[in-house]
Amino acid sequence: MTDAGAPASRSARPLRTLTALWMGMVCLLFLAFSLDGWFLRTYQSKLLFATMRPELFYAVLTLHGIGMVGLWMAASLAAGNYLLARYVRPPRWASWLALAGTVAGFVVLVEATTEGLFGAGWYFLYPLPMFSQGIWPTWATGGFFASLATLCAVWLIWALATLWAILRQYPLPRALAWPQLAGRSAPAVPPLVLISTVALLLGVAGFLDAFAVFTFYLLQWRVHGFVADALLMKNLTFFFTQMTAYATMYLGVGVVYELLPAFAARSWKTTRVVALAWNAALALALVSYLNHLYMDVVQPHALQVAGQVVSYLSAVPAATVSIFDGLLLVYGARMRWTIASSFLFLGLMGWAVGGVGAVIDSTIAANAVLHNTLWVPAHFHTYYLMGVVLMLLGFASHLGLELSGRAESRLVRRLVLPFFLVGGYGFVLTLFWAGAHSIPRRYAVYPDELARGAFYARFDVVLIGVLLLGIVLFLGETGRHYVTAAVRGLRHRGRS
Ligand code: HEM
Repeated sequence: MTDAGAPASRSARPLRTLTALWMGMVCLLFLAFSLDGWFLRTYQSKLLFATMRPELFYAVLTLHGIGMVGLWMAASLAAGNYLLARYVRPPRWASWLALAGTVAGFVVLVEATTEGLFGAGWYFLYPLPMFSQGIWPTWATGGFFASLATLCAVWLIWALATLWAILRQYPLPRALAWPQLAGRSAPAVPPLVLISTVALLLGVAGFLDAFAVFTFYLLQWRVHGFVADALLMKNLTFFFTQMTAYATMYLGVGVVYELLPAFAARSWKTTRVVALAWNAALALALVSYLNHLYMDVVQPHALQVAGQVVSYLSAVPAATVSIFDGLLLVYGARMRWTIASSFLFLGLMGWAVGGVGAVIDSTIAANAVLHNTLWVPAHFHTYYLMGVVLMLLGFASHLGLELSGRAESRLVRRLVLPFFLVGGYGFVLTLFWAGAHSIPRRYAVYPDELARGAFYARFDVVLIGVLLLGIVLFLGETGRHYVTAAVRGLRHRGRS
């Protein structure tokens, strides 16, 4: 038995091929959706693509937003499943089902956006999808919702199956480390199990909520005279998107808790503070979406105040505890710095930087100025792109080395990190700067009064180019390890 009371560390071997497939797909789609992002910023800069219709910009914006958020949701579940297999038995069928559903969902999404020009944005705010002003046909709206429903259905099943696997081994109070909270000297649950339980509960709540949203759209479409309540729809939609983001983020942090200590030759335990932080994170995350509704003056006042208070409070437990934990883990340790360990650590720090941007934006007085400016994509790109994406790319790199048994190229490591840091932080800082100077988000073409928006975008065209070089280098290096492992596996199978 481990100190966690789990059966001695199980092997994640049965999930190796499947997880490698997931990571291969994730890396390639990441490159594709990043090129979409470069297209968006280049369009705004007016340097290229100026002859294309702006409707295409909004369709690509929708594809990029849903594509990226969905992709990293799935990646975090795949990485979480692989590592959880050290303690519990996540079922493989759920992951296979999710892989098939994710591919099918993305294919329909690409069709609805690029062919159908569906462009209501990644959170498809009610009632926009139903009022296309003739820009996209009804089939594109249907395709978009069919794609989203497929993705949410398979991820819901996957999240439930994983949660079930955890609960079979650790009853809920133990999985949430309540014995530690109560000060009992019961064996501590591994941090990965605790954090994954919190993340999966949030994810399940979000996906169930998504089906309520889809049902209201369906009713309005099919039942004559039925009109959904706009405020309710906004609350439900933001709850869904926020829970998806939290689930992804927390699963990513779980990966860091599980992998980083080995690089520092130290260990991470579920202490009472860690248990308290993640239980608080669970409760606070459920209401923190309220900070997205400050501009909705019909929202009850008490909920607006709660939005600000909870946003402040929610920054403390998970983020602060994990970041201090991360710094303490690395401080004075004989760290083995590889692409994986650097990305895991930098991802944790990027989460903090983006979190600060988010907390500023969640302050009602600041939000009155920053609302729907480029400050918003600036902060979420920071905690996604420079946060959880780095954590999960770190996992992908680690898995590649584990599978191939090879060492990574020192030259590539030295190049990848500066490319990611200069390109990635340069890109998001330009967005922050533009947002702080009142450049609105989601403008395909900036009007003359906002001409400096196009000027800022030009910086990003170059900086995103630097980041893309880093991504290509990373993919080349990591892909090399996956190919080596696949060839070796095929040879082995041929011999036996
Ligand atoms: C190289 C990487 C990336 C680039 C160049 C990029 C670029 C962009 C740009 C230019 C926008 C439009 C900003 C505006 O509103 O004017 C955007 C929006 C967005 N991006 Fe990214 N992005 C990248 C990575 C990511 C990642 C990793 C995620 C999430 C995991 C993400 C999620 C989103 C979302 C949700 C939107 C908002 C879509 C909407 O407004 O409907 N992006 N991105």
